[in-house]
Amino acid sequence: MVKAEQYSGLAPALRQQLAHCIDEEFGHVAFVQEREWAQPDWVLAKYEGKELATFCNVVLRRVLMDGQLYTVAGINNVITPRAFRGRGYASQVLRETEQFIFEELECAHGLLLCADALLPFYSRLGWYKLENCSLRYHQPSGEQLYDSNVMLLSPGQQHSFRPQHINLNGLPW
Ligand SMILES: CC(C)(COP(=O)(O)OP(=O)(O)OC[C@H]1O[C@@H](n2cnc3c(N)ncnc32)[C@H](O)[C@@H]1OP(=O)(O)O)[C@@H](O)C(=O)NCCC(=O)NCCS
Repeated sequence: MVKAEQYSGLAPALRQQLAHCIDEEFGHVAFVQEREWAQPDWVLAKYEGKELATFCNVVLRRVLMDGQLYTVAGINNVITPRAFRGRGYASQVLRETEQFIFEELECAHGLLLCADALLPFYSRLGWYKLENCSLRYHQPSGEQLYDSNVMLLSPGQQHSFRPQHINLNGLPW
């Protein structure tokens, strides 16, 4: 079962557990440590018994794409604790997240930023990479340009929307 919870309403113990998982996976990654990141609005988590088996975060944001504002679901921190990996759990959570962001949150698109290695994983789930797209985001020091992969998810898994200029209008995720 996958549960969607508002991040602001999470029990402190669960919030701590999520932070611990995130730190374990990305605490040593300089690109992550050197930047300020958006706080999530939602967490989608799958439990096995009482144990957290996978989760991902959703940041809701009005994002500028080719000069127009769209309500976007920013997906980040897709994490399966090691003991639960390779069982299809992250794929399941991402499929349920797809339903949640389009049907419940009524987002126009999902958007994630990822390294090359994860492109095939997300592509299998209907996400597509934007080629020749410049993406800007805010940092306390000013606006920055992102130089890795930007992937979108569109309703019905269509791949036709391919903006070339994106401004996240806030911190990245
Ligand atoms: C990526 C991750 C969420 C996958 O979780 P999972 O529950 O095992 O995922 P699924 O069982 O649905 O799918 C497994 C597939 O993920 C892909 N995958 C997992 N880790 C990967 C990695 N480091 N590089 C590339 N692909 C990877 C593989 O295609 C794998 O398929 P395989 O088992 O046939 O090799 C998990 O490995 C994890 O938490 N990794 C660390 C955090 C991370 O990198 N998250 C993504 C941030 S963008």
